[in-house]
Amino acid sequence: MAAAATPTRPIWLTGQVTGIGRRTPGLQFQWRNNKMAQRKAGSGKISAKFELKPPPYPLNALEPHMSRDTLEYHWGKHHRAYVDNLNKQIVGTELDGGMSLEDVVLLTYNKGDMLPSFNNAAQAWNHEFFWESMKPGGGGKPSGELLELIERDFGSFERFLQEFKSAAATQFGSGWAWLVYKANRLDVDNAVNPLPSENDKKLVVVKSPNAVNPLVWDYSPLLTIDVWEHAYYLDFQNRRPDYISVFMDKLVSWEAVSKRLEVAKARAKERELEEEKKKREEEEDKPEDEAVRVYVDGDADVSESD
Ligand SMILES: [Fe+2]
Repeated sequence: MAAAATPTRPIWLTGQVTGIGRRTPGLQFQWRNNKMAQRKAGSGKISAKFELKPPPYPLNALEPHMSRDTLEYHWGKHHRAYVDNLNKQIVGTELDGGMSLEDVVLLTYNKGDMLPSFNNAAQAWNHEFFWESMKPGGGGKPSGELLELIERDFGSFERFLQEFKSAAATQFGSGWAWLVYKANRLDVDNAVNPLPSENDKKLVVVKSPNAVNPLVWDYSPLLTIDVWEHAYYLDFQNRRPDYISVFMDKLVSWEAVSKRLEVAKARAKERELEEEKKKREEEEDKPEDEAVRVYVDGDADVSESD
């Protein structure tokens, strides 16, 4: 039977800002039976329909910092291929239909033993998140709570910039650099993701190879830069550091990052409340059991005394 989970709460990281999909509440990174994922539907009908969402601006809107040619190739060909290939890969499998792209990413990551469709699913998610991390006339400095948290966790905005640029520049080969909100509550069996600790509820810069994204470590992505060569070669040839500087100085949408931070914090809070509620319910159950035992024991004692 297909595990077509039905999301029941609002999109968490994506909302109106990035809007790519939903994460199923309580998804615990479990993969019950890999073979089921490869099961073909009897009818062979195509039903998987992840869509290629366009960037939230015209393809020439980021010029002169990111050219129309780059957008046409990067979004129109590379991103499109990830979505098309994902749809072909998962058609008729347990991943087909009803599941959000985030759920597909988390399930196919499979605790690091990635299923074949992970790369296309994660790249589809990453690219939509990347397009929505930029805007015409972007860059500069954030404000409000985002800036406060950056200053709290990195020392200053300048030090954050340095760390982010360094992560993007030193990611060996293809991959991504990220600003994330780290509010881990789950043990996802990944060395990069420790159990909840005093380092939670902080902004952190991380980098990831190939298609991997911080969702699989249970971090909440706030900002990303694509450092695959296809992201910058047409405009900057092999000068990755120049591309990174232009991205930070002229393209970042701090409004999008701020909105994602709000959603990430709300989600972390919601998760904490759920955990507290669960703990409370468990504690409430315990005394009741004991009370029954005491009563039964007490009753027996009374009988004996009679
Ligand atoms: Fe890319």
